[in-house]
Amino acid sequence: MSENLFLPDTNSRVEKYEALIPQIEALISTESDLTANLANVAAALKEGLGFFWVGFYLVKEDELVLGPFQGPIACTRIKKGKGVCGTAWAEKRTVLVEDVDQFPGHIACSSASKSEIVLPAIKDDEVKLILDIDSDQLADFYQEDQVHLERLMKIIETKL
Ligand code: SME
Repeated sequence: MSENLFLPDTNSRVEKYEALIPQIEALISTESDLTANLANVAAALKEGLGFFWVGFYLVKEDELVLGPFQGPIACTRIKKGKGVCGTAWAEKRTVLVEDVDQFPGHIACSSASKSEIVLPAIKDDEVKLILDIDSDQLADFYQEDQVHLERLMKIIETKL
């Protein structure tokens, strides 16, 4: 696998996902270290899609702990059920938030974050980590983001 990403010259986010996800799959297929893989996934999503913040939180005992990310510094620990990330963990599902100010208990690591999508990776019926993507635009995430990012989470789950 080349260490350069091929990024299509398009404004279509769907086309960007379609180009990026197979490259991410190839990139992590030959590496077994989870931290290395999550670091490259965060970097590929940030480079390919350009969101404000892209990163992972890992389940460690009763908390989510900040893992590899790209973007400004962020909160390091989140309790189960708290914020968007803790809700995705507790409910084992994707949580898509159009306006973070309207989400009860949203944890504002940065006031620049306006909308957010959080997806869990599950193994043996337990959430092991979550992917969090923040946008500085309101309502920047749609069903198509959820569909493509859930496909990516299935690939990440094979590496857990
Ligand atoms: N906003 C998240 C916290 C993590 S930061 O956005 C990086 C939440 O409410 O869980």
